[in-house]
Amino acid sequence: MHTDVPALVLLAEQLAREAGDLVRTRPETVAVAATKSSAADVVTAMDMAAEDLLRRRIAQARPLDGILGEEHGHEPGTSGVTWVLDPIDGTVNYLYGIPAYAVSVAAVTGGLDPASWTVLAGCVHAVVDGRTWTAGQGHGAFLDGRRLERREDRGLDGALLGTGFGYTADRRRHQAEIVAALLPRVRDIRRMGSAAMDLCTVGSGGLDVYYERGLNPWDMAAGMLVASEAGAEVIGLRGEGPGLSMTVAGPRTATRELAEFLAARDADRDAG
Ligand code: IPD
Repeated sequence: MHTDVPALVLLAEQLAREAGDLVRTRPETVAVAATKSSAADVVTAMDMAAEDLLRRRIAQARPLDGILGEEHGHEPGTSGVTWVLDPIDGTVNYLYGIPAYAVSVAAVTGGLDPASWTVLAGCVHAVVDGRTWTAGQGHGAFLDGRRLERREDRGLDGALLGTGFGYTADRRRHQAEIVAALLPRVRDIRRMGSAAMDLCTVGSGGLDVYYERGLNPWDMAAGMLVASEAGAEVIGLRGEGPGLSMTVAGPRTATRELAEFLAARDADRDAG
């Protein structure tokens, strides 16, 4: 299959920016429209409206492609390309008006499993400050048009580390133990609340390394391409690829040290 990666990157960016314009119209007060895995896992009307917009635009521009979106699920296509959409990554931040939320749009091929798919193109558009990360497979990663370069690898000790927490109390209990063990070893820990932005921020040097258990394909598709095209490794634990059980991203030494640390503490399993 011939795929025009630069054209997919361009479209991903157009889509993310257009949805971003809609999300930016955030009203003063936002209500929770529904909850998912727990009361902490929320959906707003804007998540749904932005995904509807993205789906309409993809159907117009590339009617044969499949779509996998956070809010409306999977609609298979026939072209071999699937768009993976997170209309608002960082919905809790959006709900509270904390300015770290983004639209994430990616085109993937080869399946819907982050451990084995190929992400062809991606864009993460930070809605409030407008920062826009783009990447094309084999074509590099960019922040606002500036090419991102491989960064210095100082290992895990003293690293600025990003992470995120799951939505259930049992998972969080175990995650708290892992964070407590990591904290004395690193420079500090950030929990920004948008996995897509975390992965992109690893690519652009605002975090040294990042890990999270429980990411869904839409949280990570575009961000993992940005990170890897910027020279980062994006892996799972115990030799597995990244995905639902664990995603670790950063420069090679730091990432491998962190993956070993996490595996030794069964960070890819829940307590109990
Ligand atoms: C969430 C964010 C958060 C991460 C969660 C995700 P959503 O995505 O990326 O940082 O910790 O695992 O579910 O629900 O805001 O799209």
